[in-house]
Amino acid sequence: MKVAAIVLAAGSGFRAGFGAPKQFRTIGGESVLRRSLRLFAAHPRVTTVQPVIDPAHASHFAEAAAGLPKLQKFVAGGTTRQSSALAGLESLAPEGPDFVLIHDSARPFASTALLDRAIDTAAVHAAAAPALPVTDTIKRVDQTGRVSETLDRSALRSIQTPQAFAFLPILAAHRRAAASSRNDFPDDAALAEWAGMNVTTFEGEAGNFKLTTAEDFLRAQTIDAQALGDIRTANGFDVHAFGPGDHIVLGGVHVAHTRALVGHSDADVLLHAITDAILGTIAAGDIGQHFPPSDPQWRGASSDRFLAYAISLLAGRGGRIALLDATLLCEAPKIAPHAEAIRRNIAALAGIDAGRVSLKATTTEQLGFLGRGEGIAAMATATVRLPWSE
Ligand code: CTP
Ligand code: MG
Repeated sequence: MKVAAIVLAAGSGFRAGFGAPKQFRTIGGESVLRRSLRLFAAHPRVTTVQPVIDPAHASHFAEAAAGLPKLQKFVAGGTTRQSSALAGLESLAPEGPDFVLIHDSARPFASTALLDRAIDTAAVHAAAAPALPVTDTIKRVDQTGRVSETLDRSALRSIQTPQAFAFLPILAAHRRAAASSRNDFPDDAALAEWAGMNVTTFEGEAGNFKLTTAEDFLRAQTIDAQALGDIRTANGFDVHAFGPGDHIVLGGVHVAHTRALVGHSDADVLLHAITDAILGTIAAGDIGQHFPPSDPQWRGASSDRFLAYAISLLAGRGGRIALLDATLLCEAPKIAPHAEAIRRNIAALAGIDAGRVSLKATTTEQLGFLGRGEGIAAMATATVRLPWSE
């Protein structure tokens, strides 16, 4: 059974009132869009994820999508939510999945269980939307605010996404709506109803609210802070000696020098210290335990692999990096001219904002082995946030 997911992110987020569209805003260091993409990419029953964006935001999108599996190349959305959904469906048409989940990227808190319910319900009913009972009393009012009617809320539901459909019927319904110049359906379930499909509901989630206003973002920050409230800090330290050569590698960046650092891998002293710091936050030993120097497969290895491994262990625990802070200790080379490039490269490798990577350098006033220019030392501190689990 092939299940595709369309993640809609082509809106302008006008009501949220930020500069850039709301889906690119971060919550706890991760963009709303990345959270939504990650949810589907990580779901074992979802086979492919189709993002729909405004191409003007392609670079923001690339950041949000970096390193995630199952993602198709983005397609350009339209001026309405409906046309954006159709663009996503058309791009999946050649592949022809059995089912499709259509989701607003502005709902980043949907759970894995909700996706399961969506898929299970669509498999039986062909069209399904998550629904919540309405708890407020709902009234109809006129333009002046005068109440004309109080509705029976027992029969009312508020409807969320992801909505799930058998693929071919919803594609046909969307094409028919577009051909009939209908382009203003608020969601795909409404369009499916119009097309005569039987739409059923399944249990939604109160936590799966749509980020619409600036106030919703404050609520989201609070939820995120509570969910990842186990804040941990750990350190890492490493030293490599100089030997003959013409460059060193620091934070994955090639730095020309009159000497090289000696080591089994690429001797990236900075990434080694950072990797150890991250491993420390989950009490996962040190780099030598995971990548023994005695193992020939790590000879000359690029140290970003070690960093990626530590980050994958952290991610496996649901953790996220809040800050990486490092200090290089050496007399030469001068670090300052390279600091910005190194900082940005570490941020890219770690998949975090450059504002969450700090790099400093100091000499040791010509004291000791570092002062004599015999090598470079690096100290690092990682601060991470983990879900409460133990
Ligand atoms: N969306 C889209 N294409 C559009 C309009 C909306 O892909 N032309 C997406 C949005 O990015 C969002 C989802 O549909 O993830 C739900 O729409 P909404 O919450 O209304 O987002 P915006 O339209 O971006 O916000 P606003 O209405 O406040 O401008
Ligand atoms: Mg809108």
